[in-house]
Amino acid sequence: MPVTDPKLAGAMGRLGTESAFVVLARAKQLEAQGNSIVHLEIGEPDFETPSNIVEAGVKALREGWTHYGPSHGLPEFKEAIADNVNSWRGTDYLPSEVLVTPGAKPIMFYAIMALCGPGDEVVYPDPGFPIYRSMIEYIGATPVPMPLLADNEFRLDVDRFRADLNDKTRLVILNSPSNPTGGYLPKEDIESIAECVLNTGAMVLTDEVYKEITYDIDHFSIASVDGLRERTILLDGFSKSYSMTGWRLGYSVGPQWIIDAMAQLQTNAVSCTASFVQMAGIEALKGPQDQVATMTDTFRERRDLIVGMLNEIEGVSCLSPQGAFYAFPQLNGFRQNEEEIADILLDEGGVATLAGTAFGKFGSGSLRLSFANSTDNLIEAASRIGQTLDAIR
Ligand SMILES: Cc1ncc(COP(=O)(O)O)c(C=O)c1O
Repeated sequence: MPVTDPKLAGAMGRLGTESAFVVLARAKQLEAQGNSIVHLEIGEPDFETPSNIVEAGVKALREGWTHYGPSHGLPEFKEAIADNVNSWRGTDYLPSEVLVTPGAKPIMFYAIMALCGPGDEVVYPDPGFPIYRSMIEYIGATPVPMPLLADNEFRLDVDRFRADLNDKTRLVILNSPSNPTGGYLPKEDIESIAECVLNTGAMVLTDEVYKEITYDIDHFSIASVDGLRERTILLDGFSKSYSMTGWRLGYSVGPQWIIDAMAQLQTNAVSCTASFVQMAGIEALKGPQDQVATMTDTFRERRDLIVGMLNEIEGVSCLSPQGAFYAFPQLNGFRQNEEEIADILLDEGGVATLAGTAFGKFGSGSLRLSFANSTDNLIEAASRIGQTLDAIR
């Protein structure tokens, strides 16, 4: 919803938002009026932050890690991040090529702001995380959607992608595994993207926040393709893997020139990331990793459950997501569009979901359901969805 008060700068009218927060507010309002709502709208793990990480944060507070730190991040944390990134992707990033941020989201802001302006084109996934397009438009660049359709298992149409690149393409945004589709880009798609990008002057922003929440696939990063290291800005964070959404902790790695530019934007905006939070981040990366695996196993069980139940509902078909914790079912044969159906599900069915179009026009005909919720709630949600859709068919 654009913010258009005449007292505001014109660019504010081009700024989008994340409708998950809008729907959450509406759902809370309905709950306050006594309605029962199952929440499938918000994208955060429903697990506590692992206790070793919490303890490390508390210890850091007690030890006085409560002051400003360097804009780029604490040296020992940057070292741990570079090691972790390199072990996941087979890359050779240096600690100096790391930028620590309060959550991964500001990296979208920084990268687009540092690289793009009016006349530049940015290719981005559609359906995709809404902040990409919001920031592209805010900055005055031209958004060029890269459709990721269910008919193609949410994969890239390489020919279309190649045709969409030109001299004006400044940035290509990738997100695998994907929010909202749960799809992923296999190695061959990423290699095709890399080949196309190398024929242009474009940079790549690769959003890999779901790299650890995957089901039977191997994560592959464009940063590890020959020649792409110098073109890639990698975005990752702690919100999803370590269930740390409220701590606000993310990072970027990339060539020194862009990391320094983004650090300067960070100095202008927030100075640095909270020091005690970074100390907890060191524990997250270096401590035991078993809770990440346990959480992913639980998500896998829930995925199988919700996808199975959705596919039982007449007029609904749902691919099995290969990563993240979102199902993106298609709706077939309804009179209402996905936004109307999401409204009906919330108001009459008591289930909060998001319309696929909240993630771009190629999300039409779909809903996004977060399965970061208990088995009981997922069973209840599927039953409510089934009954509500039966009633409006
Ligand atoms: C694809 C994607 N990237 C980035 C983020 C932002 O994560 P953070 O909490 O680290 O800002 C999200 C959060 O939902 C996401 O889905």
